[in-house]
Amino acid sequence: MRRFLLTLLAVKAVCSPVDTYIATESPIAKAGLLANIGSSGSLSSGAYPGIVIASPSTTNPNYLYTWVRDSSLVFKTLIDQYTLGQDTSLRSLIDSFVQAEATIQQVTNPSGTVSTGGLGEPKFYINETAYEEPWGRPQRDGPALRSTAIITYANWLIADGNTSHVTGALWPVLRLDLDYVANNWNQTTFDLWEELDSSSFFTTASYWTPSPGFMTANTGGGRSGIDINTVLASIHTFDVNAGCDDTTFQPCSDKALSNLKTYVDSFRNIYSVNSGIIANAAVATGRYQEDVYQGGNPWYLATFAVAEQLYDALIVWNKQGSLTITSTSLGFFQQFNTSLTIGTCTASSSTFTSLMSGIKNFADGFIAVGAQYTPSSGSLSEQYSRSNGSPLSAIDLTWNYASALTAFAARAGQTSASWGANGLTVCIEFNVNATTVLGENIYLTGSVSALTNWGTSNPILLSSDSYPIWSTTVNLPAKTEIQYKYIRIHNEQVTWESDPNNKFATEASGAQTLNDVWRYSRLPPNTFPSGEAQEYVLSRNMCYQGDCIVNQGGL
Ligand SMILES: *[C@@H]1O[C@H](CO)[C@@H](O)[C@H](O)[C@H]1NC(C)=O
Ligand SMILES: *[C@@H]1O[C@H](CO)[C@@H](O)[C@H](O)[C@H]1NC(C)=O
Ligand SMILES: *[C@@H]1O[C@H](CO)[C@@H](O)[C@H](O)[C@H]1NC(C)=O
Ligand SMILES: *[C@@H]1O[C@H](CO)[C@@H](O)[C@H](O)[C@H]1NC(C)=O
Ligand SMILES: *[C@@H]1O[C@H](CO)[C@@H](O)[C@H](O)[C@H]1NC(C)=O
Repeated sequence: MRRFLLTLLAVKAVCSPVDTYIATESPIAKAGLLANIGSSGSLSSGAYPGIVIASPSTTNPNYLYTWVRDSSLVFKTLIDQYTLGQDTSLRSLIDSFVQAEATIQQVTNPSGTVSTGGLGEPKFYINETAYEEPWGRPQRDGPALRSTAIITYANWLIADGNTSHVTGALWPVLRLDLDYVANNWNQTTFDLWEELDSSSFFTTASYWTPSPGFMTANTGGGRSGIDINTVLASIHTFDVNAGCDDTTFQPCSDKALSNLKTYVDSFRNIYSVNSGIIANAAVATGRYQEDVYQGGNPWYLATFAVAEQLYDALIVWNKQGSLTITSTSLGFFQQFNTSLTIGTCTASSSTFTSLMSGIKNFADGFIAVGAQYTPSSGSLSEQYSRSNGSPLSAIDLTWNYASALTAFAARAGQTSASWGANGLTVCIEFNVNATTVLGENIYLTGSVSALTNWGTSNPILLSSDSYPIWSTTVNLPAKTEIQYKYIRIHNEQVTWESDPNNKFATEASGAQTLNDVWRYSRLPPNTFPSGEAQEYVLSRNMCYQGDCIVNQGGL
């Protein structure tokens, strides 16, 4: 007995309550998720193979349908596990999901046919037939989420040498979805809660309210616009290579952090379960403060999403070895240290170390809230009561299980495959000393898209404010080998700098300045006796070979 007690104490010393919860809940969440996928899932009888039911609940509410959004988020979780080598048994289930979605895409429904808007239909019967009753439709996030999941699988298959399966089975599905996204992304839509028909952040990821600093969830509906919709958008567009980019509202961007604080704080005073909790500690959170659906309670997936955004942010700060506080994110950071000011702290500073641990504890706090209100069976219903935390509404919500698994994975430092973020950008100042004649201008072109990919019809015009130094500043991808040349254009005639191309590598972050001198073209070697000056002013009518191109584009 004594030895047993000592063992328990030793375990307790290394495991926080959050570690313990994750160890217990992970297998329950995974099993709960698989139970809701047809045709072999234990709680999803009647669902066709690869079809995800939202919940086995059939009354108040009836969720025995398949939603494109929920299914895609659930399978994104499974596809990540498969492609990261964590669960190799999932292959045939993933194949059956792709097959089921290929079928559903072709089902004519109240939103249209496959070619007239039918891909915006949000939910179907679990036997892959159309749901014909009135509903909040269309919901335009489905095709984007479905392609996010399937692209991850497709890239894995290509890397595994199975391109034929991608071109034969996956690409036809992806192509329809991507065409739909390209054609409809900015149209109004019912939001992910199926309530408001307006522009939704979850679908377009593009609205910001500067004061008090939050991402506007919906442009319509007469609500505050503060909604977990935005946090979900941030974690589902997370790409560790995108750094703390605020254009894509990355989890560690100043806007997403300010938004997170505004969102979390909006629940401090409205749920009884949060009363008495100090102002910078984790609380129970729900969809949005005005929510009345099924009593308008906290949701597990909302509370877990807060933790996931913070874990994602910690991954990037650790990788960067620094963290920047702007006027937008100052309020978020001051929750952990009221003396903080705007600026950058690097990994070697004690402020960085203490902030990282403060934010990790804050994130763990949201998992602990979910843990506190998870029943002993480990099952996760849609909601938990705002007054006493007991489980409410639909039982075994598949999306909740997925949200627990992805939050736990982020806490362990796991990231999903990149969507292709080109990494951070660095700010490069180009200066070139070039004497010109009246009417002649100096331009820049080069090997990356920010330098117009060697385009001569739209090169970047430099400023002559410091003549004879011509200057411009361009944001270029970090840690990238760049080639470039200056060109001069006069009377529609383009003259390139001589070969070879100028070359340099951008650094990981920060700013760089390049001070160049225009390199004159050489004349044909036989023009001068050998050994004579090679650098020569090439006059306009002496262009030769690649050094001079007559522009056809009318610049
Ligand atoms: C599909 O399921 C719905 C709802 O249960 C049912 O009404 C319909 O008859 C089924 N259709 C087929 C073809 O099985
Ligand atoms: C490619 O993947 C598909 C789907 O999993 C599988 O059926 C097929 O056997 C694979 N082909 C090869 C050559 O691995
Ligand atoms: C998207 O729609 C919003 C709202 O109608 C509009 O303000 C914005 O300009 C649109 N953006 C693009 C790129 O079309
Ligand atoms: C709080 O921030 C101030 C200002 O950056 C710093 O001097 C101090 O060490 C920080 N406190 C902790 C506990 O890190
Ligand atoms: C520009 O180049 C010319 C010719 O080499 C040189 O005389 C001049 O000092 C340079 N100007 C600056 C500002 O570097």
